Amino acid sequence: MKDSAMPENHSKRYYIRTFGCQMNEHDSSKMGVMLENMGYLPSESVEDADLLLYNTCTIREKAHHKAISEIGRSQLLKKKNPNLLVGVCGCVAQQEKDSLFEIYPHLDLVFGPDKISKLPFMINSAINGERPLMVELVNSSDGYEFLGDIGRQKFEAGAAFVSIMKGCNCACSYCIVPKVRGREVCRTPLEIMTEINRLVDAGAREVTLLGQNVNAYTSKRSLDTNSEMNFTDLLRMISDSTGIERIRFTSPHPKDVSLELIEEYGKNEKLCPHIHLPIQSGSNKILKAMRRSYTRERYLEIAAGLKTARPGISITTDIIVGFCGEKIEDHHHTLDLMNEVKFDSSFAFKYSPRPDTEAFDFADDVDEGEKERRLADVLDLQSNLSKSANESLVGSAGNCLVYGMDRMKKGLLTGRMPDNRIIHFSGNPDLIGGIVRVRVTGAFRNSLKGELDL
Ligand code: SAH
Ligand code: SF4
Ligand code: F3S
Repeated sequence: MKDSAMPENHSKRYYIRTFGCQMNEHDSSKMGVMLENMGYLPSESVEDADLLLYNTCTIREKAHHKAISEIGRSQLLKKKNPNLLVGVCGCVAQQEKDSLFEIYPHLDLVFGPDKISKLPFMINSAINGERPLMVELVNSSDGYEFLGDIGRQKFEAGAAFVSIMKGCNCACSYCIVPKVRGREVCRTPLEIMTEINRLVDAGAREVTLLGQNVNAYTSKRSLDTNSEMNFTDLLRMISDSTGIERIRFTSPHPKDVSLELIEEYGKNEKLCPHIHLPIQSGSNKILKAMRRSYTRERYLEIAAGLKTARPGISITTDIIVGFCGEKIEDHHHTLDLMNEVKFDSSFAFKYSPRPDTEAFDFADDVDEGEKERRLADVLDLQSNLSKSANESLVGSAGNCLVYGMDRMKKGLLTGRMPDNRIIHFSGNPDLIGGIVRVRVTGAFRNSLKGELDL
């Protein structure tokens, strides 16, 4: 439907451009619901929008630049449509605060990740030309809102996301997240359960629990200080007392992986056989400089424990190459560790110095060319590990949550196996949103090929 066809009762349209992690994706989805509650409709394109929000990420310099340059370009959109409201939120907004208004005079609102609950208020004041700026962090459960009361949650094809905590109390020396997301605040078990039950009623089959340091969850940091629940207790309660069929979570920190959590993998069938557990480096010297607070040996012990508790579990990771002081032997320790754990996939990044982090003052002494070479080493090794792990699955079968059509190879369905692997197979689009048994018939580096196992 074209707005121009009915100018009198023109519904306003919003467009949210999201950068960054799943936390940001989830925040954008909640903001979408809040805007729809205010009468806005989603817009298919930036050009048709009356309200444009940039939900930004500053984890690495590249992400920061990407956001900033798109924000700069929105000046042109505003020239074409002077009534357009343009806002910046997320981690760049939290980092840059009012300086964004100075650099970009066309911006109408700027707010941080902890101020999303004030969105309707800010929109109204932006409409009045007040240029609202809300960038305070909320560091205790008293003032933090998890937005469980916005009425509904958007989710696609049976897979929903639920925030269980926000913020990070770690002090990894390279990382900007504690600065822009503040201290850990947890959600009450009751609120989490209520939201999951509501999602199940709306058709969700799988839930991914979200938090910057998700397994540091403790109800003691929520408004319900009487209930003493840790992360594993919460997993157990969700699987015992809700109708959700599959549970995932992201991102856990190795230091908070308890023996109890490892054992839970052996007992709880709703818990998917996958963990994304960032290692960052395989060198104890570098882990120490990164302030990761575990050793290579401890990580290997956790990985072995998980594999014993749940044979076939998929372990995936994040790796940073070229951190300050990383010598070639440290890099080799990382490659050796990758070979030992046999990660099923990994995200690898070149170290990117971030202002306002401890490591910003360290010497960034691995030159760009060497960072590139080390990144290539990690990617090559991972590619081989992924391919052979995928090949070993040919012939096996599993219950796949079908989440859509495969865009590239027309006509195929795409789904996720319990271990999070992507699989393509042919079948009726009616299956989207359901769980079906699929047999693996072929393997690529980043996905599997399969057929319905009827
Ligand atoms: N909370 C999560 C990580 C969130 S950031 C955790 O601790 O696991 C996602 C990933 O970005 C990190 O795991 C790390 O690998 C990478 N990262 C963070 N800061 C970085 C930096 N300054 N340079 C390069 N990569 C970085
Ligand atoms: Fe950043 Fe470390 Fe916190 Fe992860 S655990 S968000 S890497 S500070
Ligand atoms: Fe980026 Fe913020 Fe997430 S910096 S990775 S969007 S927490």
